[in-house]
Amino acid sequence: MEKYILPEIPDYHTLPVYEQHGGYGALKKALTMKPEEIIDELKKSNLRGRGGACFPTGLKWSFMPKGTAIPKYLAVNGDESEPGTFKDRMIFELNPHQLIEGILIGCYAMGITAAYVYIRGEYGKWVTMLQKAVDDAYAKGYIGTGILGTEFSTHIYLHKGAGAYICGEESALMNSIEGGRGLPRIKPPFPAAFGLWGKPTTINNIETIANVPLILNKGWEWYSKIGAVKHPGPILVGISGHVTRPGVYEVPTGVLLTDLIDEYAGGMLDGKKLKALIPGGSSTMILRAEHVPGVTMDADSLKAAGSSVGTAGMIVMNEDTDLIRVITRIAKFYYHESCGQCTPCREGTGWLWKILKRFETGDASLADIDLLLDVANNIEGNTICALGDAAAWPVQSMIKRFREEFEKRVKPVQALAV
Ligand SMILES: Cc1cc2nc3c(=O)[nH]c(=O)nc-3n(C[C@H](O)[C@H](O)[C@H](O)COP(=O)(O)O)c2cc1C
Repeated sequence: MEKYILPEIPDYHTLPVYEQHGGYGALKKALTMKPEEIIDELKKSNLRGRGGACFPTGLKWSFMPKGTAIPKYLAVNGDESEPGTFKDRMIFELNPHQLIEGILIGCYAMGITAAYVYIRGEYGKWVTMLQKAVDDAYAKGYIGTGILGTEFSTHIYLHKGAGAYICGEESALMNSIEGGRGLPRIKPPFPAAFGLWGKPTTINNIETIANVPLILNKGWEWYSKIGAVKHPGPILVGISGHVTRPGVYEVPTGVLLTDLIDEYAGGMLDGKKLKALIPGGSSTMILRAEHVPGVTMDADSLKAAGSSVGTAGMIVMNEDTDLIRVITRIAKFYYHESCGQCTPCREGTGWLWKILKRFETGDASLADIDLLLDVANNIEGNTICALGDAAAWPVQSMIKRFREEFEKRVKPVQALAV
């Protein structure tokens, strides 16, 4: 398939090359349209968010109050801290102007005069690259006051995170941009009513926004025919683990997971057998190898398989993988990253990790399997944000699909002395 998010064109990240290939044409077209026409175009395209929840983007944009009478904001989420996820950084590096163009179109469509791009703090190299692209776009009059001779003005600011996964959660992200601690907010009110500095705000993932110029350029009908019908478009899949060529691959949604492993990532490393697969970042539910054939990378297929697309960060594990080690490490991550506001998450994530360590060291009992499920079930759905769910789902799914791995690791029952 032709590449639309990461085109294989030398120096495409530079403004002159981007312009030579039609760059900023979508913005020019957008500026001739009414804001509501753009939102309608997005709705019809069926673009769904690439940040984890697959929420329809046009619908999200339509929640924003109309007009320009009050300040409104766009926050673009490049926190990218979910284990297994490393795709947004490719956009910063290889196609930053398409992201900027998408931001500008979004600002115009929603009547926004300031956009913040939140980038994870460890991404120093990519912050520098994106800042250069933003500076170049300012110099050329694409960003700033009276863009391209129109009355539309907007500014783009980059904001660096400081190493906390929770700051990727949209309301924690807004607190962090405001200079506060990255603590998720209780919803409602939702960001479209009360967001940054109490003003209407839309939060979108980097890749989601990078799709917008394509839709404006080529039309919703073209876009909606790429990949899966209900979840169309190009998607960046980050493949890591036991494959020959780990990396980020742009594919149409709806591609078979087995093709992602065999055709894109060059097959299983050293010819070993697949044992398990996490399809969309560490919080998505694990699949057994025998359940993978026939499953495709899109919301409906993965839901039917008992998992989700998440961030399309696929973690591939071979027959030698110690899944107890895997789930213990994942649990440690969520325990470390819990912000501590909600008791079920603050305490529960720690207990999940501690109990899982008992399986790792061979000190667990059979009853600990049920205890793990009990703790996970008491976290799920009982927290302000979805970090709690993200911690519970991998544990629940690991027990559901690989119970025997836990049973094999319990402490042998001691013979009673007579
Ligand atoms: C703990 C946590 C971490 C998250 N991290 C990210 C992230 O790094 N990047 C991202 O785009 N979305 C992340 N999300 C999802 C965002 O809250 C939000 O749904 C997303 O940015 C919306 O963008 P989209 O509609 O374009 O997908 C996270 C959610 C949670 C609960």
